[in-house]
Amino acid sequence: MARTTIEYLRELRQRAGLGGGEQRIEDQHRKGKLTARERLTLLLDEGSFEELDMFVEHRSSDFGLDKQRYPGDGVVTGTGTIDGRTVCVFSQDFTVFGGSLSEAHAEKIIKVMDLAMKIGCPVIGLNDSGGARIQEGVVSLGGYADIFLKNTLASGVVPQISAVMGPCAGGAVYSPAITDFVFMVKNTSYMFVTGPNVVKTVTHETVTSEELGGAMTHASRSGVAHFACDSEAACLGAIRALLSFIPQNNADDPPVRKSTDDPGRRDPGLDTIIPDNPNKPYDMGDVIRRVVDNGEFFEVHEEYARNILVGFARLDGKPVGIVANQPSVLAGVLDIGASKKGARFVRFCDAFNIPLVVFEDVPGFLPGTDQEWRGIITNGAKLLYAFCEATVPRVTVITRKAYGGAYDVMNSKHIRGDMNFAWPAAEIAVMGPKGAAEIIFRKEIEAAPDREKALAEKEREYREKFANPYLAASRGYIDAVIEPSETRPRLIRALQVLATKVDTNPRKKHGNIPL
Ligand code: HXC
Repeated sequence: MARTTIEYLRELRQRAGLGGGEQRIEDQHRKGKLTARERLTLLLDEGSFEELDMFVEHRSSDFGLDKQRYPGDGVVTGTGTIDGRTVCVFSQDFTVFGGSLSEAHAEKIIKVMDLAMKIGCPVIGLNDSGGARIQEGVVSLGGYADIFLKNTLASGVVPQISAVMGPCAGGAVYSPAITDFVFMVKNTSYMFVTGPNVVKTVTHETVTSEELGGAMTHASRSGVAHFACDSEAACLGAIRALLSFIPQNNADDPPVRKSTDDPGRRDPGLDTIIPDNPNKPYDMGDVIRRVVDNGEFFEVHEEYARNILVGFARLDGKPVGIVANQPSVLAGVLDIGASKKGARFVRFCDAFNIPLVVFEDVPGFLPGTDQEWRGIITNGAKLLYAFCEATVPRVTVITRKAYGGAYDVMNSKHIRGDMNFAWPAAEIAVMGPKGAAEIIFRKEIEAAPDREKALAEKEREYREKFANPYLAASRGYIDAVIEPSETRPRLIRALQVLATKVDTNPRKKHGNIPL
């Protein structure tokens, strides 16, 4: 009996499901990697994947390509749900021409991105590709450019998330680079503009792929990756967790969860968390976890510029973006890396209606020729600019130091901070008491019979006058001096009040953030 049309469809689907065939699937597994479809199964809610363009094939005939056609052409695209919310996905299939990008492959990605823009949902791209389909030449390069343009137009409209789960080299790196969050998997993924062989030829450096562009390299040194995950399963799980904090698009509010943590909960431990000695460090991560719902802080860019912490948490069930100086790393100083990390995060939160909560303990900007010559001025200005232009609800808690320009930058009242709190131990001044005394009382100190004693005396005088929150509070630069233990209820109430906040920026095509 002739096979039915339904049987034929099933056969075609089965063939498409095998990508480049069983042998190549085995090769993929042997490298410790999952296939494109296995990844989607882990990423999406069970049974929610709706595939599109399963039978799209390339249209090339050069270099024998006409004899090698695979349904889907090396990328699996479609829609699915994560915690019941729709997402658009593409997952490159390394078993088909090494996941390389052909004209047709690019068109599939563009199509699913267009859909995401129309329906207003996040786009998640799982990248595992040998780059441009070499046999297709410039047509493939054009496909990349089409994707870069789409990434740029979608930026700030729908969240875009990239996971790099294999090779991602050459110009192909620029699509993930434009997206909001880049995830990588340790030991099986790498990203670089030029690989170790070209590096060897040009700069005579010997370096492995992992050293040059592996997950830890990009998570800790370059900052290209926001997350370095131990396994593909961990990576896909982390993407699901990230999505639980962010809205579907820029016109949507972030998803609210029913909180099991009392909004009125005070934490007496916070009253003693600041060491008596102002030069002693403490862990700002501990402060954050004591304040937010159930101690859950989803840190972003954890390994990069660790002197600043950024990430998501919930307060009474509502997502917030947290930016916090970390006194236990470089005394929480702002340097180039911290400024860039903070700025990018602030802009993401502002673009997607996520209120900002800032915990501040900052001795200033990092001095030195290295920082100055590499542009701490321009880079520090990024963070300043990002806060200045943000119109989401913005709350600050100064836990201890707020010195110099860094005081202004860290979401101060002057740059449109909405509610600015200080703990009683806060020191808000132009500079630390010792440095200040050495400058303004230099002559008296030099003339004194005991210079050390005179300096200590002047330092004490300056500390009493300026190194506290009350001068700032008397000007209204601080809205309230609060007890550390009451930080959680105060923040929750502030954000409740600010929930209806409306603020705007002057009409313009776009600003010119100092890049
Ligand atoms: C066509 C490709 C391919 C490509 C790999 N394959 N890359 N086919 N175009 N770019 C095919 C291989 O021929 C092979 O086919 C299969 O994919 C698996 O590749 P292997 O080399 O066997 O795998 P592996 O040893 O794991 O090495 C992976 C790799 C390597 C490191 C990615 O394949 C490689 O170096 N590929 C070329 C990378 C490259 O130079 N791409 C162009 C970059 S420039 P069979 O049939 O044997 O299974 C670029 C510009 C983008 O991308 C510009 C945007 C602006």
